[in-house]
Amino acid sequence: MNFRLRIWRQPNAKTTGKVVNYDVRDISPNTSFLEMLDILNQNLLERGEEPIAFDSDCREGICGTCSLTINGEAHGPDHPGAVCELYMRTFRDGATIVIEPFRVGSFPIVKDLVIDRSALDRIVQAGGFISARAGSAPEANSIPIPKYDADLAMEAAACIGCGACAAACPNGSAMLFTSAKVSHLALLPHGQPERESRVLKMVQAMDAAGFGNCTNTYECEAVCPAEISVGFIAKLNREYARARLRQNIGK
Ligand code: SF4
Ligand code: FES
Repeated sequence: MNFRLRIWRQPNAKTTGKVVNYDVRDISPNTSFLEMLDILNQNLLERGEEPIAFDSDCREGICGTCSLTINGEAHGPDHPGAVCELYMRTFRDGATIVIEPFRVGSFPIVKDLVIDRSALDRIVQAGGFISARAGSAPEANSIPIPKYDADLAMEAAACIGCGACAAACPNGSAMLFTSAKVSHLALLPHGQPERESRVLKMVQAMDAAGFGNCTNTYECEAVCPAEISVGFIAKLNREYARARLRQNIGK
């Protein structure tokens, strides 16, 4: 298969970027999207040109490192899935493919397609630790957890922290990400001691990072490789309201 690629090139955060055209030829349909970029980079290196910087790590959809907007869609057209799980057979032979970094004000561009997503780390860090009893491990059945809660907590824990939700949102909102992280622990007994302080601090960190607010467009859910439901945003709002109420009563 042959493709015309239109790729965002930007030497660093301080320099203006631009779209540059590249042609790739004789690509197997079973080549992954990132392998196709590897092939392009190999060709660029052989021609003495600067390779294209892009992020990846596990290349199996679990680490959240890959982050490309392809033809205007975060993670490309094959949802649900991270861009490392996308294959060239998804595209028409001879197609023109536009490749950009995730465009979110809170994710500054580092170089080409690489962005700085440390704002998401700061939200998680703000949530802090959970209290856990030290000493020998408790008997496994001593903390009963309803199956519904356990399943829901597991669904929230599936978030891989890629930031596609913020990239797809017209408001640049990270509420799907934050709601998954807040809900995961709020649903479990282990997360109860810091339940209120955690949600208040994480929402504060989210706002401080400059992410926008949710206006229910559901674009985040549509692109999420982990299929995190927008229902968790409703839970985040409930958790936040509960925490503020208890804080005010406490005062
Ligand atoms: S909620 Fe989904 S899209 Fe957002 S960071 Fe988590 S896995 Fe990525
Ligand atoms: S490289 Fe790990 S999720 Fe894509």
